[in-house]
Order: sequence, then structure tokens, then C-alpha cells
Amino acid sequence: MPEKLLILGGTSEAYKLAEFLNTQLSPQKINFVSSLAGTTNEPKPPAGEFRTGGFGGLKGLKNFLVQEKISLLVDATHPFAEKISKNAHLAATALGLPFLRLTRPPWVRHNDDQWIEVSSVENAVKYLTYVYKKTGTLFPIRSIFLTTGNKELELFRKFTKCKFLIRTVEVPELASKWPEAVFLQDRGPFTLENEIKLLNQHEISLLVTKNSGGNSTYAKIEAARKLKIPVLMVRRPEMNPALFCCTVTEVADWINQHCSNNDNLAGKPVSENRQ
Ligand SMILES: NC(=O)c1ccc[n+]([C@@H]2O[C@H](COP(=O)([O-])OP(=O)(O)OC[C@H]3O[C@@H](n4cnc5c(N)ncnc54)[C@H](OP(=O)(O)O)[C@@H]3O)[C@@H](O)[C@H]2O)c1
Repeated sequence: MPEKLLILGGTSEAYKLAEFLNTQLSPQKINFVSSLAGTTNEPKPPAGEFRTGGFGGLKGLKNFLVQEKISLLVDATHPFAEKISKNAHLAATALGLPFLRLTRPPWVRHNDDQWIEVSSVENAVKYLTYVYKKTGTLFPIRSIFLTTGNKELELFRKFTKCKFLIRTVEVPELASKWPEAVFLQDRGPFTLENEIKLLNQHEISLLVTKNSGGNSTYAKIEAARKLKIPVLMVRRPEMNPALFCCTVTEVADWINQHCSNNDNLAGKPVSENRQ
């Protein structure tokens, strides 16, 4: 029987993994299915088989894994997708499934970066509230570039004396109720040149972002550095300790280790598959 892998996706890493497996794997050895949360309209379909929508919590995920005879689980969700990652780890542990987290490394602070690090979006709001109370205004924070995603945007509305430029992949519901804010719908990759232009055009004095990592949206961090703009950086949530890797080829190595015979997915020794 070939192994059956579930990829929990919604990230560029998950798309790359599905593409890789679809083109490189031998179906006698492994089948795979990708899973999307279904939170975005018209998401790009990943290569190969996929399903969409929540599982119905931990119990639902466990049922799915059993019913679909999943034998390997890769959590390739976003580093801030806390709930599904927790459930995936718990379900794999309970069922004794080999489990791997595919995640991009976090951005690392550069000497010239002015980062104020906080542990959650709520704490980013608390920090701004503290500055506001202390000074009676958010001055010198006049104009905030907010890139923390659609969730939790509401929390920032109370800073009425501040201008907001809010960039999201999808227009949030809140956009129609918050006419003072400028909403920008766009997805990476972004260039440094354009990010500098954007920050200048909107006279941004603070960037608020999650430490998502990856190259696609890193240009805003570089732009802030060049323009000496502080960054309110939301640190990643703590995840359950689990085996993790950062590249698709490492996942392929891991799959090879768990497949019953000794042929590699792409018919090459594992070491040659490393980047
Ligand atoms: N959080 C971010 O900043 C961010 C950024 C970019 C992309 N994403 C992607 O967007 C999706 C949702 O993110 P989130 O932060 O809302 O996640 P979350 O808070 O961890 O998950 C919320 C619920 O959405 C469902 N879900 C999440 N990912 C799923 C998947 N890949 N397949 C099936 N169901 C899934 C699960 O529902 P049930 O409990 O019913 O199973 C989960 O409990 C994730 O797939 C993530 O990779 C998130």
C-alpha cells in the first residue's frame, strides 16, 4: 500500500510542496492530498488532489485522518495559524502518525532595524494604547502601515487620531465601516522600490506587522530600515515542539525515510535532493 500524506496548506510553501510531489513522486509509493481552510474567495488550487474547509476541530481532524487512511502529516500552514497547527500536532500524536512542520524561518532583526517586539497583535494594540496614554497622542506616530492580516483589525480602530494604511490579500468586511482608513488589496511578492514609494506616499511613521518570515513580503522590512521607520513586530506564537524543516526537499527526505522501500521519490539519493 502506498503511503498517504495530508498537507495542511494555505501558504506558498504548501503550494511548492504539492507541486513538487505532483511532478516528482512515484504514485506507487505515496499519494497526497492538500487541505485549504477556505477562508479566501477563489483560492488558487494546489497541484494534485485537494479539499477545502475546516475539519470540525480536533475530533473532526482525527476522524478525517482515520477515514482517509492518512499515514503521514505535514503542517505547512502559516506560522501564525495557531489553532490548526495545535490540532494537527495533537491529532498526529494521538494517532501515532509521523508529523512534520514545514515553516519558513522568521525574519531576523538587522542592526539598523528599529523593532519594538510584542508577543501578539493584542499586545501591539496595548503598546500603542500605552504610548497614547503617556503622551496624550500617538505623535510622532501619525500614519500607520498595518499588514497583520484581516483578523483583529477592529482592535486598531480606537486610534482615531491616526491615519491607517491597511494592506490585506482580501478586502476585509471592516473596510466599508472604516472610511477614514485607506485599504489596499494586494499580495506579494513586493519590491523594495515600490515599498519605499508606498511608505513615502502615505508618510508612514510606523509599520505594524507579524514576523511571518519569507522573501515575498520582506521588502517592507527593508524599506522601513532604509527610511528609519520603526516596526512594531508581532513575534510568532509558541507552537508545540515538533520536528520541523524549512524546505520542500527536506520534506521529500523525510517522506523517503518513512516510505517502506528504499527507492527515493525522484529516484535519486536523498542527499542529492538537498538544496
Ligand atoms: N494567520 C495568518 O496570519 C495567515 C496568513 C496567511 C495564510 N494563512 C492561512 O490561512 C489559513 C487560516 O489561517 P488562520 O490563522 O485562520 O488559522 P487558525 O486560526 O489556526 O485556524 C482556524 C480554523 O481554520 C481551519 N483551518 C485552518 N487551516 C486549515 C487548513 N489548512 N485546512 C483545513 N482547515 C483549516 C480549522 O478549522 P477546524 O477547527 O474546523 O478544523 C482551524 O481551527 C491557514 O491555512 C493558514 O495557512 C494564515
